[in-house]
Amino acid sequence: MGPPSSAGRAVSSTVVQLDGGDTAAVFQAFHRAMEEEKQPTGGPHFVGKKDEMIEAKHSFRTLEGRDVLIVYHQSAFYAIDSYCYHAGGTLLNGDIEEFDGKMCIICPNHKYKICLAQGEGIYKATDPREKTPVPRWYSKGVKQRIHTVTETNGDVYVKLSEDRGFIESDFYQGEKGKVERAKAAAAEKKKKKR
Ligand code: FES
Repeated sequence: MGPPSSAGRAVSSTVVQLDGGDTAAVFQAFHRAMEEEKQPTGGPHFVGKKDEMIEAKHSFRTLEGRDVLIVYHQSAFYAIDSYCYHAGGTLLNGDIEEFDGKMCIICPNHKYKICLAQGEGIYKATDPREKTPVPRWYSKGVKQRIHTVTETNGDVYVKLSEDRGFIESDFYQGEKGKVERAKAAAAEKKKKKR
């Protein structure tokens, strides 16, 4: 058995299926499919006054239908999808800690660690092939979508990520994800009652 694998991020693509081999029709269908895809305007969106955001430390906002968590920690702002890529747990009350030189939020549900700057999922493990296994940090690649925060004259803005590739946290922003989030929240509640 090798060390835990480090998977890169998955990238989605638009697939157009046609019966024949008509190239022009393929291109037309492709362009139609691209136009039909919802394009976020991205912002920047005003999310609050700097002083208030600093005091709150963690602020939840819904921007263009997307639920985003804005975190203030050690003089820096970060914006990240507010539901954990693992099973849709809310990150709102996640602790912030530095691991392997990276500032991370820890999901309260199953303690997954997500780097705030890049959205990378990281974990510590040992390589059983080593004579004396030493725990090391490994990366799972980008798992959580992050957004850009700017500040002008005491006002804080968030520009949504326009990266079109699929990132795992995207799932929990959609309708299916919402259902899964509700199921997971109910399961967690039940577990805590035991
Ligand atoms: S839901 Fe976040 S670690 Fe499982």
